[in-house]
Amino acid sequence: MGQVEWARDLARKVLERPLPRRWEHTQGVGRRAEQLAPILGKDAEILAASAWLHDIGYAPDLIDVGFHPIDGGRYLRDVHGADELLCRLVAHHTCAEIEADERGLLDILQGEFPKERGDLVEALTFCDMTTSPDGVPLTVVDRLAEIRSRYGPDDAVTWSINQAEPHILRAVQSVEAKLALSDVRLGCPA
Ligand SMILES: [Fe+2]
Repeated sequence: MGQVEWARDLARKVLERPLPRRWEHTQGVGRRAEQLAPILGKDAEILAASAWLHDIGYAPDLIDVGFHPIDGGRYLRDVHGADELLCRLVAHHTCAEIEADERGLLDILQGEFPKERGDLVEALTFCDMTTSPDGVPLTVVDRLAEIRSRYGPDDAVTWSINQAEPHILRAVQSVEAKLALSDVRLGCPA
C-alpha cells in the first residue's frame, strides 16, 4: 500500500465515526493536496499523506496534551512509526507554533518536532485554509472568517488565527502563484 492510501485509510479509521464533520473536512483537504501534485514533484506523496492526517490529533482516543498538531504528530510517530517528515508536517500545520506558544506548548512542539521544509508546511497550510469544515473549497478570507465565528472572539484559536493571518495569507499566495505558473486550476472560488 502506498503512503497516501495508508494515510487515507488511517484517517478514516480514526476520524469517521467519532468526528464525522472533521472527516468531511479531512477528505476535502486530502483531495486538495492530491491536486497539488503538478507543483510538488517528488514531494507530492508526502504532502498528500500529511494532508489526510493533519487533523488526526482531534480524535478523542488520541488526545494527550490537548493540542491537536502535537497529539497527531506524537500518535503518528509513537504508534505508527511514521516517516519523520510526515510527523513534522502534521505537527506544524497551519502556523501551529503560534497557538502552541499561546498554550505554553512551544518548547514541546519545537523540541519534539523541529520545523523543516517550509515549502511543504506552506502547501499544507494552503490546503487546510482553503477548505471548509465540510470539505468544500473556499477562499482563505472566508475560511479565516469561518474560524473566527466558529470559535468566538475570546477563544485561543481565534487569537492565534489573528496572529497567524499574515503568514497564512502569504502561504496561500505563494502556492497560488506556483499553481498559476504551472497553469493548474483547482476550482477555488474567486
Ligand atoms: Fe484542518
